[in-house]
Amino acid sequence: MSKPIENLAILGLQWGDEGKGKLVDLLSANFRNAVRFQGGNNAGHTVVVNGESIALHQVPSGALHPECFLVVGSGVVLNLEVFHQELERLRDRGVEVLDRLLLSDKAHVILPYYIAIDNWRESGSNRIGTTGRGIGPTYETKAARLGLRLGDLKRPDGLLERISNIYTETRLKIGDAAPLPAPEAVLKDLQEQIKPLLKCIGNAQEYLYDAWKRGESLLFEGAQATMLDIDHGTYPFVTSSNCSIGGLFTGTGLPPKALNKVLGVAKAYTTRVGAGPFPSELSGPVAEHIRQAGHEFGTTTGRPRRCGWFDAAVVRHSCRLNGADGVGLMKLDVLDGLDSIGLVKGYRGADGNTLTAMPSSIHDLENTEQIIEYFDGWPEPTKGVKSWNALPAQAQRYLKAIEEAVETPIEYVSTGPNRGEGLLLPGRSLT
Ligand code: GDP
Ligand code: IMO
Ligand code: MG
Repeated sequence: MSKPIENLAILGLQWGDEGKGKLVDLLSANFRNAVRFQGGNNAGHTVVVNGESIALHQVPSGALHPECFLVVGSGVVLNLEVFHQELERLRDRGVEVLDRLLLSDKAHVILPYYIAIDNWRESGSNRIGTTGRGIGPTYETKAARLGLRLGDLKRPDGLLERISNIYTETRLKIGDAAPLPAPEAVLKDLQEQIKPLLKCIGNAQEYLYDAWKRGESLLFEGAQATMLDIDHGTYPFVTSSNCSIGGLFTGTGLPPKALNKVLGVAKAYTTRVGAGPFPSELSGPVAEHIRQAGHEFGTTTGRPRRCGWFDAAVVRHSCRLNGADGVGLMKLDVLDGLDSIGLVKGYRGADGNTLTAMPSSIHDLENTEQIIEYFDGWPEPTKGVKSWNALPAQAQRYLKAIEEAVETPIEYVSTGPNRGEGLLLPGRSLT
């Protein structure tokens, strides 16, 4: 791939796990900086190199390229214990990142209390199938102006009192539903965990501004996806951050003009983990085929992912919302071997009219009828195919129909988890 001239955002267009990690890994060889801007260790981004896979949760997926500087922006929430485990796993593979890592001093820290609240809430009737990592309560505490930021951990004054206040609020919520560590123990752990990271904590907003002004290339890695966005997703079955384009600016502090291009990422079908509406969901043997062929089990929690046809109404909505310039279409090979492949082109509302926009309410979304077109499967596998002309004609037809329905050009098609498995569409480039 040629040297990039643009700052590029990679954003999920469905309900997560589209293959953002693969694309970020692939592209970050050409970028000076790789930047995470929201989410926490609810994310699981799998990168496969020479058949060996590694799951990254909080470390940007540019980590495997030693020249790539890694930035964790202020919109991210960090579990420091898990962060160290991740650094250890990278070290086991000979990858050291501490000398090329900047953690925003404004990023909030996930405390054990938040995990307890998450699990307590998930045991009740408001269950939405979270990852149980404490993500929602961390962002709640941030909005309540009670949270702890990485920068706060550099100064011990008043920390115990602030942690004690969070402890007290947690007890008020969950009663004695779960044991909670004492504030003193939480503080001690945080102080241990922060020590090796002290030199990596700093002003990420200023760093990114200067890097932009110096002309250094920036690759932004979204976590979760547009349909899980707290404002624009299938609320309340969403995560607690803005995973669509707006979150990039609040989560880094960069102005919109620092970004040159948005690449949306979608699978050639759809998956969802956790509860909530999923209009194109399948059950039975086709869903099982996709789940097994695509290894559709959560990277973070191991839960089986719900599987369904590609939903162009969802992806079109997400492309519009993010201003996507192009789409990376992943996992086409997973559809190899199917006789017939469905494509949801839109929805009809309860009044029988075709909807022109994604309904804001999940009640309305659940009461739609899908407009679905079936395409012939392809006789030869697409696994590992590296050029458009080598794709079976049926696969080309399916991809062209997707492109038309989502009103955005497909730039890259992925045909396997490894770096080399995939193709650029004729005349298109990712950067
Ligand atoms: P992310 O959260 O968006 O980064 O996606 P995940 O890593 O959670 O899930 C995507 C999974 O699909 C990972 O296991 C990838 O290794 C794998 N993957 C990515 N692209 C392809 C592809 O084109 N074909 C196949 N078969 N697997 C892929
Ligand atoms: P990546 O970055 C898929 C889902 C959870 C749940 C909802 C809320 O790998 O694409 P949370 O723990 O965030 O409060 O859970 O969001 N979810 C994801 N689904 N991929 C992810 O991340 C997800 N992160 C959260 O399953 O439905
Ligand atoms: Mg994932």
